[in-house]
Amino acid sequence: FSVSLFLSFSSFSLSLCLSSSLSPRSFSLYDLTPEEQHELENIRRRKQELLEDIQRLKNEIAEVTSEIENLGSTEERKNMQRNKQVAMGRKKFNMDPKKGIKFLIENDLLKHTSSDIAQFLYKGEGLNKTAIGDYLGERDEFNLQVLHDFVELHEFTDLNLVQALRQFLWSFRLPGEAQKIDRMMEAFAQRYCQCNPGVFQSTDTCYILSFAIIMLNTSLHNPNVKDKPAVERFISMNRGINDGGDLPEDLLRNLYDSIKNEPFKIPEDDGNDLTHTFFNPDREGWLLKLGGRVKTWKRRWFILTDNCLYYFEYTTDKEPRGIIPLENLSIREVEDKKPNCFELFIPENKDQVIKACKTEADGRVVEGNHTFYRISAPTTEEKDEWMNSIKAAISRDPFYEMLATRKKKVSSMKRH
Ligand SMILES: *[C@@H]1O[C@H](CO)[C@@H](O)[C@H](O)[C@H]1NC(C)=O
Ligand SMILES: *[C@@H]1O[C@H](CO)[C@@H](O)[C@H](O)[C@H]1NC(C)=O
Ligand SMILES: *[C@@H]1O[C@H](CO)[C@@H](O)[C@H](O)[C@H]1NC(C)=O
Ligand SMILES: *[C@@H]1O[C@H](CO)[C@@H](O)[C@H](O)[C@H]1NC(C)=O
Repeated sequence: FSVSLFLSFSSFSLSLCLSSSLSPRSFSLYDLTPEEQHELENIRRRKQELLEDIQRLKNEIAEVTSEIENLGSTEERKNMQRNKQVAMGRKKFNMDPKKGIKFLIENDLLKHTSSDIAQFLYKGEGLNKTAIGDYLGERDEFNLQVLHDFVELHEFTDLNLVQALRQFLWSFRLPGEAQKIDRMMEAFAQRYCQCNPGVFQSTDTCYILSFAIIMLNTSLHNPNVKDKPAVERFISMNRGINDGGDLPEDLLRNLYDSIKNEPFKIPEDDGNDLTHTFFNPDREGWLLKLGGRVKTWKRRWFILTDNCLYYFEYTTDKEPRGIIPLENLSIREVEDKKPNCFELFIPENKDQVIKACKTEADGRVVEGNHTFYRISAPTTEEKDEWMNSIKAAISRDPFYEMLATRKKKVSSMKRH
């Protein structure tokens, strides 16, 4: 409306200009005939009207412009508000992934679909990769679907297994728990085989080889592992995993060289990496142990091996004073009067006595009477090392079992 009005006024003013430019300068009112004077009056009136209309239009334009400007700043304000909330959602996610996702969904910043959440995690902007790993590792139906969608976002076509693993293991931090690792690596193997059909006989083969590679990474690059396998050993270790057959030697050599030339990087590497979970957790040293019945601290020589914690009175003792099988136990840091404390406990059952045995002063072997074992290390570093090793010992066995089951499966394939 405003524009057409404006145009019609323009043409009026144009005709006005034209008529005045056509009139000579010396022109006097009294030279005009009455009709002409009348016409002139009319023109003047029209001019006044036009000027008034123009003013009204100007006002209207100013009003509309300010409205547009205001509109812009509300949009901006809304945007800023939204960005703030997204940032808050990310922060919440990093502290507690489930709560963070819930917050983002409730505030319409994320759709409640597995694919949208998978996208959000895959982009990973401002997200802690440990938190991403925790969320993807959850067991319930929905998280499993998110994990599936998340893995599908990775493109592995024409990548060799090491390249694909580099990409995958960089997109989140693999959690330390065996079952979670199993689910995630299973999803990885499926996706890899889907992108590269024909490379492996089955996803189990891909899964097993992926682990062989991750362990190779540790063997070759972790300074604590003294025994560095040569490529021949790597090849022979992986015999028969391709559903009973061998994988092409070239392929294995390539993968070996790739890892040898450049170790895997994992996000938020705190030295407590996944390979730590599988390697040589054995350890020995002096620690203080809090008594079960009599709450006194005793200095004991501890040995961690075979998934058990043994303690001795003297380093030279043949028989341990006590044996604590680590099966089903958890470990956590605790505060006590002694420094650098941690304790072994049964998760979700604080009153149950831990299955363990000890030797009494008179030589009788009796069941232990601890609902938790509290231990103090001489230094923070030693506490961390002990905790890592014990954690590794606790989580190693179920994983080895899972891997062994698959190996049995693929090596028996040939016979069927
Ligand atoms: C991510 O979270 C983990 C565990 O909460 C923490 O140890 C780590 O420092 C965090 N990383 C960053 C970059 O904030
Ligand atoms: C590979 O080895 C290096 C050196 O020990 C370690 O920092 C890294 O976390 C390892 N990567 C994986 C995926 O285990
Ligand atoms: C660990 O838990 C499993 C399953 O609950 C049980 O069968 C087993 O006896 C437990 N082991 C020990 C040492 O308590
Ligand atoms: C274990 O400790 C409880 C009290 O803490 C005591 O009542 C019980 O007799 C003890 N059992 C053994 C076998 O020493």
